[in-house]
Amino acid sequence: MKAIFINGKEKNSSTLAEIEADQLPDNDVLVNVDYSTLNYKDALAITGSSPVVRQFPMIPGIDLAGKVVSCKSGRFKKGDNVLLNGWGVGEQHWGGLAQYASVKEEWLVPLPTAFSSKQAMSLGTAGYTAMLCVQALEKQGIAPKDGPILVSGAAGGVGSIATFLLAQRGYEVTASTGRPHDSDYLLSLGAKNIIDRASLNQAGKPLQKELWVGAVDVVGSHTLANICASLQYGGAVAACGLAQGMDLPATVAPFILRGVSLLGIDSVYQPYDRRLQAWETLAKEIDATMLANVTTEIPLEDVIEKAGDLLAGQVQGRLVVNVN
Ligand SMILES: NC(=O)c1ccc[n+]([C@@H]2O[C@H](COP(=O)([O-])OP(=O)(O)OC[C@H]3O[C@@H](n4cnc5c(N)ncnc54)[C@H](OP(=O)(O)O)[C@@H]3O)[C@@H](O)[C@H]2O)c1
Repeated sequence: MKAIFINGKEKNSSTLAEIEADQLPDNDVLVNVDYSTLNYKDALAITGSSPVVRQFPMIPGIDLAGKVVSCKSGRFKKGDNVLLNGWGVGEQHWGGLAQYASVKEEWLVPLPTAFSSKQAMSLGTAGYTAMLCVQALEKQGIAPKDGPILVSGAAGGVGSIATFLLAQRGYEVTASTGRPHDSDYLLSLGAKNIIDRASLNQAGKPLQKELWVGAVDVVGSHTLANICASLQYGGAVAACGLAQGMDLPATVAPFILRGVSLLGIDSVYQPYDRRLQAWETLAKEIDATMLANVTTEIPLEDVIEKAGDLLAGQVQGRLVVNVN
């Protein structure tokens, strides 16, 4: 089978390799992969830019969708359509950027009938995380009538889908981007206002003008600090990413003086019921036209090159990988 293979922790140790399928680990379920994706974390792993991968050699790919070939317990039947996001796959366990994957049965979610494998991977971890962010904000009591909402890194994977989901739910979305010249794309997803990310990514005052009731942040660092400082009284930000940096150079002022909430979002180890619920909600709210608008399909052969482009912020929306 063909697979992306990361041979070691040195930079640029990834190759497109042919390996025997019997080299796969002996897990519960063998999946014939139809599609995988390229997320930010996959790009870090493939380029060796950050210590995402814990053991070598590794097949990256934190997402996959495909058909069950065999299942030891009988929980899945041959031919069942399934998808997988996270669980350390592509980091500690061989992942989805391959034609076959051997995985634990509890990592798999049935593919929602509304989606093809390709459409599910158009969403991938990015879409599922965007939904977790939106749900966390709403659980916190943030509603469209309360005021505008901000999405950072809006032209990227999580940002594009969060922009769409929030706009569909009636929020007035401000999209922060380093590509304001591509504003037509963000407007087509439902953004009402576009701001240049440069207005958020430098050190700012501890408390700033109250601009947004909520935010989805994929950027971290000064951007997240400035978002916290610019939320309305009682506002909340769902923080899921670190595209600018892992640091958070903030003060407690927004939390203790404006009752602002910082909601941490992790997609990797969400329990089964939460992921199923997020995917079922995505199936209701996402349509095929939207997915086609945000998706570029690439073959496995292009993955290594595109990983560099993604980290350089040159990829718009989502990259779906046709592993066959
Ligand atoms: N917590 C979780 O479970 C989880 C799940 C998925 C993703 N994530 C994290 O979320 C982040 C986004 O993931 P993704 O897959 O959406 O990646 P992506 O497609 O590469 O999007 C990231 C976007 O962030 C912006 N950006 C990039 N570099 C930046 C910088 N130096 N300063 C400010 N903005 C920058 C760019 O958007 P613009 O061009 O529009 O500015 C870029 O498109 C990553 O850090 C990823 O690790 C976390």
